[in-house]
This record gives sequence, structure tokens and C-alpha cells, in this order.
Amino acid sequence: MAIERSIDTEEIAEIAKQVADQTHEPHRLVDSSTNPDDSSEQDEEVTLRPLTFADYIGQERLKTNLKLAIDAIRKRDDGSALDHVLLYGPPGLGKTTMANVIAREMGANLRVTSGPAIERAGDLASILTNLQPGDVLFIDEIHRLRRTVEEILYSAMEDYKLDIVIGKGPAARSVRLDLPKFTVIGATTRTGSLAGPLRDRFGLIHRLEYYKIPEIERIIMRTANLLGTGIQPEATNLLATRSRLTPRIANRLTKRVRDYADVNGDGFINVELARSALEMMEIDNLGLDPADRNMLQLMLENYGDRPVGLNTIAALTGDEAATIEDYYEPYMLQLGLIERTPRGRAVTKKAKDHLASIS
Ligand code: ADE
Repeated sequence: MAIERSIDTEEIAEIAKQVADQTHEPHRLVDSSTNPDDSSEQDEEVTLRPLTFADYIGQERLKTNLKLAIDAIRKRDDGSALDHVLLYGPPGLGKTTMANVIAREMGANLRVTSGPAIERAGDLASILTNLQPGDVLFIDEIHRLRRTVEEILYSAMEDYKLDIVIGKGPAARSVRLDLPKFTVIGATTRTGSLAGPLRDRFGLIHRLEYYKIPEIERIIMRTANLLGTGIQPEATNLLATRSRLTPRIANRLTKRVRDYADVNGDGFINVELARSALEMMEIDNLGLDPADRNMLQLMLENYGDRPVGLNTIAALTGDEAATIEDYYEPYMLQLGLIERTPRGRAVTKKAKDHLASIS
């Protein structure tokens, strides 16, 4: 039985408290402004992150579409929220960064959580009932939401309504709460694993693309500048070509090479220092690291150029199948080092030639 009557703010607060009390932890919000997995490396990455569209390099098509949607909301000025946004694509291309930029450009608060962090429907209910009008709720790894949690999200996203059951046994009652107008930004590495009904509730769906070399060069120059380190153009280009067209990797390499230049030189990153730092890290001319090469080598040794199933590759390398699929594979597919066939993944001639050239 749904109670169709208006509920005032105090009552909402009381119900939110009850919902929270029914769950282990109050809100399951990972953080109100930053990324879920926190470490000092992450902290440093956060300070390197662009905060506005003007600072965000690359993803031009996405930026154009988002700017238009945000300008339209501003112009209408009728209290409507930005359409829900789904960002998908390989890790490290700036989905979380873009969520931060969107919230800031909207002048809105960003609430950050993730699919696996929301264990129960009550966790999500308590997050939703604590939102302010216009808030942006970032749900990382949204493909990992449980079905029961996902179902609550449907009406919340579509009608800004929350259908929940309060209490237990004979005292249980079903309540439909009004939620403030808010925007979900969902991020996923795999749009394929997102349930159709959830996907359909996003008004803006965008794939983040691998960056172009000149864009990665600009990101490296920006990062070196923020770190207060000088860098030679040839060194910038060298690092860019080894960053897998991915800003997170470009930033990581820039920081490691800066450390190397601080210890082995006067801090300025010239191409010779960059080259020896990359050698020390065993990053080859395609940007592959030892783990990538190990995967290719194992596939080649055990199966030649025949297709291998994902689980078999995972068993060979000792990784989770999802890690192979999300982290290793996308860039190697993009580069044409492996190909996907109906019967599994196969190592290509290009990969064989590459391994032969560096051994
Ligand atoms: N740092 C990480 N991603 C970035 C981007 N797209 N633009 C500028 N700096 C970045």
C-alpha cells in the first residue's frame, strides 16, 4: 500500500533517520568530493585534477554535449536538474574527474558513492533522502549495484520518488517520499553489464575515448607545471607515447619520472632521464608494462595464435577475469595486439612481432 500524501521535511528527516537506523552504516557515501579508493597517490591525483571544462583537456564531443545541457538548464532557470549522465569507457580516462567538473560547473554539491558500497536498499534510501535540491550523486562502478538497490533507483531517477517500506512485521508500512530534483552521474567500464531499464533512465550517455597523443602531451605539461617541474618537449612526447593514451597513466609516469629526475639530476625532466626512468620501470615503447607482456607471452606460449577464453587467460596470469577485461585488454585491443573472436581472445601477429623485438 503506497501512501499518497504529502510529507513535510521534518517527517522526511525522521523517516530518513529510521531508514538509516535499519542499516549498518548511516549513509554509505564514500566521500562528498573525491574518489572512492583513497590513498596518498589518489590524494595527489585529486590535486592534479582539472576543476572546470576549460581546464579539462580532450573529450571534446563529451564536453560540448555537457556544456549545452548545462547552459540549457541555466537558461531555463526553473529548478529542473541536469539529466542523468552515464559515462562509460576504460579506466583512467577521467570519468570521476568529469563528474567533479560537472558538479562544479553546475554550482552543485557532489556526493560520491559506488555500486559495491551500496549494500542494501536502505543504504541507497538514506543517501537519497539526504540529498539537497540540485545535488549531483556520482555512482562509480554502477554496473555492480545489486538488483534490489537498482530497483529503488528507477523511480528515484525517473520521478524523484522513493518507495520504501518502513518497519517490520505488522507495523510495516510502505511510503512514497518526494525527493529533491537531483542528477545521477553513473560511471562504468562496461555498458554491456548495465540492466536495460537502468540504462534507459540516463538522458546523456557517453563513451570516454582514448586520448590523442597531443592531448596527452598537454596533460603531461599541465601536470609537470602543477608539480613545479620543468620538462623538455622531447621528454613530454616520449612519456605521452608510453602512457597508453590514458591521463591517469600519463600523470603516474610524470610523477615517477619527476622523482627519478630529482634523484638522478637537477629535477628538470630531459629526454635522457625520462628514457632511463621508463627503462627502470620496464615500460616498453608501446607503453606495456611487465604484467601486460606476461599476459601476451603466456597466451602465446600456451595457445599460439589460437583463441583463448577469458577465464583461461585469468587462470594463466592469476588475475580476476574482470581485471583482464577492464584493465589489460581494452588498450591491447585498441592497439591491435589481441583480437576478440567468438571463441575467445587471440594474440595477433603485431603482438608476436612486438614481443620478439624487445626480447
Ligand atoms: N588530468 C587527468 N585528466 C585530465 C584531463 N582530461 N585534462 C586535464 N588534466 C587531466
